Amino acid sequence: MQIRTFDQYQAAYQHSIEDPEGFWAEIAQEFVWRKPWKKTLQWNFDEPSVQWFIGGKLNITENCLDRHLAERGDQPAIIWEPNDPHEAGVTLTYRMLHDQVCRMANVLKRNGVTKGDRVCIYMPMVPELAIAVLACARIGAVHSVVFGGFSAQSIADRINDAQCKVVVTADGAYRGNKEIALKETVDDALIACPSVQKVIVLTRTRTPVSMIKGRDVWMEQELKLVTADCPAEEMDAEDMLFILYTSGSTGKPKGVVHTCGGYMVYTAYTFQNVFQYEPGQIHFCTADIGWITGHSYIVYGPLACGATTLLFEGVPTWPDCGRFWDIVDKYKIDILYTAPTAIRSLMGFGLEKVENHDLSSLKVLGSVGEPINEEAWHWYDDHIGKNRCPIVDTWWQTETGGIMISPIAGVTKTKPTYATLPLPGVQPVLVDENGKEIAGNGVSGNLCIKFPWPSIIRTTYGDHERCRQTYFSTYKGLYFTGDGCLRDEDGYYRITGRVDDVLNVSGHRIGTAEVENAINMHTGVVESAVVGYPHDIKGQGIYAYVIAEQMPEDHDAELTKRDILATVSRVIGPIAKPDKIQFVSGLPKTRSGKIMRRILRKIAEGDTANLGDTTTLLDPGVVDEIKAGALVEAKA
Ligand code: WT7
Repeated sequence: MQIRTFDQYQAAYQHSIEDPEGFWAEIAQEFVWRKPWKKTLQWNFDEPSVQWFIGGKLNITENCLDRHLAERGDQPAIIWEPNDPHEAGVTLTYRMLHDQVCRMANVLKRNGVTKGDRVCIYMPMVPELAIAVLACARIGAVHSVVFGGFSAQSIADRINDAQCKVVVTADGAYRGNKEIALKETVDDALIACPSVQKVIVLTRTRTPVSMIKGRDVWMEQELKLVTADCPAEEMDAEDMLFILYTSGSTGKPKGVVHTCGGYMVYTAYTFQNVFQYEPGQIHFCTADIGWITGHSYIVYGPLACGATTLLFEGVPTWPDCGRFWDIVDKYKIDILYTAPTAIRSLMGFGLEKVENHDLSSLKVLGSVGEPINEEAWHWYDDHIGKNRCPIVDTWWQTETGGIMISPIAGVTKTKPTYATLPLPGVQPVLVDENGKEIAGNGVSGNLCIKFPWPSIIRTTYGDHERCRQTYFSTYKGLYFTGDGCLRDEDGYYRITGRVDDVLNVSGHRIGTAEVENAINMHTGVVESAVVGYPHDIKGQGIYAYVIAEQMPEDHDAELTKRDILATVSRVIGPIAKPDKIQFVSGLPKTRSGKIMRRILRKIAEGDTANLGDTTTLLDPGVVDEIKAGALVEAKA
């Protein structure tokens, strides 16, 4: 399944278009199936309903663990680098990982988890997180990993939506010089989560925690009570593997559902090809397992390919801004996969901490999560890859499960800021507002995909209609990504950013409506409107226009802003805190009451000269007031 030359890429692409079923069947055959599938694909995008490898039976952990034991049982599967560089790391060989996953799976069973049950995982970036994820998959339980930066309220919403039976967490987490009380946050969440029967707690920070009798158990103690014998549950290819919540333009985050067979085949195929992984190499993806990047390219993709994957607990800037380069040097990392926001933030510290490290082991550099600007691309290329490592700018989404548009390292000619070409099996189309396909090159439009690939979203948990509505109803017969995109004269794709009300802040996806709802919960707030604006490091910053019952002034305004930030942190989590808050007496609304966000975006960008047509506004005067206020804000 490995593509080595551009001709092979083109041949594979052609094959995948002409005969998608034949193409994917050939790739899927390389995995271990308990029972072969009867039909490769059945689909329609109207319901939507997509099924791959129908009737096939497998367990993804047999493919990620058991099948590697004979050949590479003693090869490292996971290398763990702790937050504190002075703490000893951990290396788990495939044999050790297999053993630990089986034990953890037995702990889950002991605590009442059976096939189909949902398990919420809220953990620091420690090996036990990957182990808990795989342990769920081992017994057919559905994991729902919640990123450690989310609030108690956000955890509760996710637990309740999925009706999770068990939570796996830790006493606390280390992040840079901070210690974060995870279990305490879980305790706050669980006040409102009647479905949860057991909480399994790992000791990490030894922070004092309350342990409720009958509900809370220590992971270490539970592990003493089980054996390492845990046969893998036989799963249908279309059985649910996991739920991962992500933000959209409206309402609460939705639970994106991925299934066992297609997700395994696609993440393994894309991992192997995009990064051109060679046996023995070490892959370092800097994402958190709480996001899809971590699911697909720290855990499942690499392990399905028998790779060595590095899991890093800390942050890029602690103890100093050379931490990534320290890790690359220390472990002789071959592949580094990170986000533009990290690159931009490290660029700001200069080259001193880069140049005192040996980065010559690097072979491939990856970028993910947001558009990479030209300056960051070149800095990455010049100073990290020393102009000898291909950069793969990988475009994809939580909903796509795996990388969709990306160069294949060393095979596809790269071009700064371009995700370049679709991978085999991916059929992108650009459409105009009316859903009409825009053919040819040198064009731009809304990015859609017109044919299913194996790891396409199957549903949004508990609300299939929402899945249809969000992704399959905007343009009939197409999966709509929510992204704007241009296709240049060479047919290369460049993703230009979201065209809906979704923000991308430091690679984190945040819905404007979610932030508004959180702000509106603050006492004295009447209404708010949130937009994104260009931010040098974060990509996008969050700008909030807030109407208060009484317009606060001077010192009072600053205090109220701080309180609003505390409220947003409490409701969603610190990642959703606005960068700027401006108090206004009104918002620019049309006569039908719709907020004209276009105007608010322009003002937030500082582009007040070109606000366009404002004559349809109910009260055009409000715009001048907001403009004047924004100038004061910009100076502050
Ligand atoms: C949104 C998806 C895919 C894993 C991490 C984010 C943006 C993602 C790129 C890229 C430009 C990108 C898109 C997309 N995005 N990768 N290489 N170039 N934009 O997953 O949280 O589901 O966010 O991230 O806007 O829709 P996610």
